[in-house]
Amino acid sequence: MPRTIIEPFRIKSVEPIRWTTRAEREQLLRAAHYNLFLLPADDVLIDLLTDSGTGAMSTHQWAAVMEGDESYAGSKSFEHFSNSVREIFGYKHVIPTHQGRAAERILFGIMCKKGDVVPNNTHFDTTRANVEFVGAEAVDCVIPEGRDPRCNHPFKGNMDVTALDELIQRAGAKRVPLVMLTLTNNSGGGQPVSMENVRQVSEVCRKRGIPLYFDACRFAENSYFIKLRESGYASKSPKQIAQEMFGYGDGCTMSAKKDGMANIGGFLCTNNDLLAQQEKDLLILTEGYPTYGGLAGRDLEAIAVGLQEALEEDYLRYRIASTAYLGNHVAERGVPIVQPPGGHAVYLDARAFLPHIPPEQFPGVALGAELYLEGGIRSVEIGTLMFGGAAKMDLVRLAIPRRVYTQSHIDYVVEIILEVWKKRESIRGMKVNYEAPFLRHFTARLESVSN
Ligand SMILES: Cc1ncc(COP(=O)(O)O)c(C=O)c1O
Repeated sequence: MPRTIIEPFRIKSVEPIRWTTRAEREQLLRAAHYNLFLLPADDVLIDLLTDSGTGAMSTHQWAAVMEGDESYAGSKSFEHFSNSVREIFGYKHVIPTHQGRAAERILFGIMCKKGDVVPNNTHFDTTRANVEFVGAEAVDCVIPEGRDPRCNHPFKGNMDVTALDELIQRAGAKRVPLVMLTLTNNSGGGQPVSMENVRQVSEVCRKRGIPLYFDACRFAENSYFIKLRESGYASKSPKQIAQEMFGYGDGCTMSAKKDGMANIGGFLCTNNDLLAQQEKDLLILTEGYPTYGGLAGRDLEAIAVGLQEALEEDYLRYRIASTAYLGNHVAERGVPIVQPPGGHAVYLDARAFLPHIPPEQFPGVALGAELYLEGGIRSVEIGTLMFGGAAKMDLVRLAIPRRVYTQSHIDYVVEIILEVWKKRESIRGMKVNYEAPFLRHFTARLESVSN
């Protein structure tokens, strides 16, 4: 196989991106109060804020969009959608939702009550919030290696199976309505879960009589990591691996904005007839009729095609190689990152990058601001601004939208990170001038401490 990474597609429709000067960016950043969420997207050159809903659709998806059947009930598009989901995931009931968190709200609203405990390798923030909203406790049980940014382990997203079993015994199985596994583990650096771990978690669940659900947002990337890194899977297709993985569970939640290759959408699956009925009843109340669930028929068509495309080997080879290329090229020059690079994102370790800035002066915000000033790159801080004093790390996540940027864009990002690395000692910490009472990172206003 040649070493050069090429995009396994050619470009038919282009969207211009806008250059700004450093002087303009200084002014723009000041006007945005040093909070990258407050920047107009048009003033960003390379937008790595998130990989959620920001991907480019294929010609096949756009063609399918034109086939969208917008009937309120029983549309053909729902049939295409549910057949595509069922072929990969294998679950009996497929319930469409407008995005991932809507599936979470319905699942936890039906299955959990006050006092319950929900274990996960690491809950994503909306997952945790939806568990806590019904009065249940969300507990993270990732393996210890998954909490250490420097540790290089092939499956850092794995669940600590002993900790899981002890938690269930301590809480009592009756208080644990389900166990969840997040594929890949987004809040833990986009790290995959091995098939062996899925099997072991499933065995614990069977032994204790508890259903296993997957948070399946990045299931295709997880399947490809299994193919690359786990013995016995090299000759299997990503789809066969995904089918085996989901076979160990009882259902899933999914945000189709990730490995559904769509700009909006999600779904909830279960094998349980009674739960499916209750979930559909709640869906009608808040999302829509069960054959559209808050989506247009054309969205269902885009997802039906996108799920299959996400499993194409040429695409996954390029996707995983391109993210690793970014991470490895900066790491080999000494830039501290969460190792190894994840599937959808590279995480810079801002505390190690800027050791002279204490966590209370937001090293992640300062680094994100400098990446924007240096090269117009937008990232997101995952650290003290987002989580307050509870933050264990200060990270800057560079999430790569699917099929949007080319290898030369990635080379540009490498160049800018290395430029910022050279001048790291001159970067100053930040202080907050305004913060909302919750989720402050979205709207906080900051300034440099040297001002
Ligand atoms: C692991 C994980 N679960 C759930 C969600 C929620 O999905 P959505 O943004 O579609 O509501 C996300 C979104 O980023 C995620 O990464």
